[in-house]
Amino acid sequence: MISELQKRITALKLKTNTAILAHSYQREEILEIADYCGDSFMLAQHALNTAEKKMLICGVHFMAETAKILNPNKRVFLANREAGCPMADCLSGEELKRIRESEPDRMVVCYINTAADVKKQSDVCVTSSSAVKIIKKIKEQKILFVPDSNLGRYVASQAPEKDIKCFSGCCPYHDGASIDDAEKAKRLYPFAKLLVHPECRPEVTDIADFIGSTSEIMNYAKASPCGEFIVGTEISIAEHLSYHLPDKRFYPLSKKILCPEMKLTSLPDVYNTLSDIEKNKSSAFELVMDSEYIAAAKKCIDKMLELGSAEN
Ligand code: 13P
Ligand code: SF4
Repeated sequence: MISELQKRITALKLKTNTAILAHSYQREEILEIADYCGDSFMLAQHALNTAEKKMLICGVHFMAETAKILNPNKRVFLANREAGCPMADCLSGEELKRIRESEPDRMVVCYINTAADVKKQSDVCVTSSSAVKIIKKIKEQKILFVPDSNLGRYVASQAPEKDIKCFSGCCPYHDGASIDDAEKAKRLYPFAKLLVHPECRPEVTDIADFIGSTSEIMNYAKASPCGEFIVGTEISIAEHLSYHLPDKRFYPLSKKILCPEMKLTSLPDVYNTLSDIEKNKSSAFELVMDSEYIAAAKKCIDKMLELGSAEN
């Protein structure tokens, strides 16, 4: 049944000239039909380079919004309109404007997990894989980092030359994994390497063997001679790695790192959106944004792509 739907999706993608971009936290059956998958930085880069006239994002709302901002002339759809990000929702553009005014000497660096309203109020955007590189490169010394305090504190530890003040937000799922969870997993799997996302708490990243974004964790596991890993990011990554590397073992750090928002999108959602696009039905969830608004939010994303790219 799954493969039959996947075949229909593949045919509809071609017929409607739509590229499917999926975040790595999506279900395996969705990653299989995606044209591009990866972490947030890779998705933004792919969004800029797709040849197709339309894009269907399998992920959460800010990812579709970012793809639209980067491609104002393309039609961008989100496969499940309910899929949001509680971390992105914890800070509004209005609130950031107020904070900015009270911290006029700080450069505002926002995580990509933010709404376009927040990006409009920010000087540069970063992802988990590009944050340290970008913050080290910018000449300003005083920084306000929003909204993820865990990622902000991790970046501050890697760039001690900067004065970084963090907003108090977090990913409730990554932040849910405690030091007790990490120590318990290490006791259960004493030979496994602990790989952790910087959205986790500092006391958890402190005892990790490797800290990186979703794609960096996957690449580390592939390249490592080690055969066992405790995976400290969304639970799907241990599952995807187990499919791709069946001779290695992957154990989720904690079942608390389960993002229900990322789990909302189903293969039927993808199929239904594509068939709505084909029939030109308004029930497909399309991102519609004013061109001036896009231009204002785009500046900080352009800066991220410029400073975070491999050539820079
Ligand atoms: P990355 O994709 O940059 O690793 O971020 C993880 C995440 O939580 C996405 O919402
Ligand atoms: Fe947002 Fe966390 Fe889910 Fe990523 S894992 S989409 S940061 S709630």
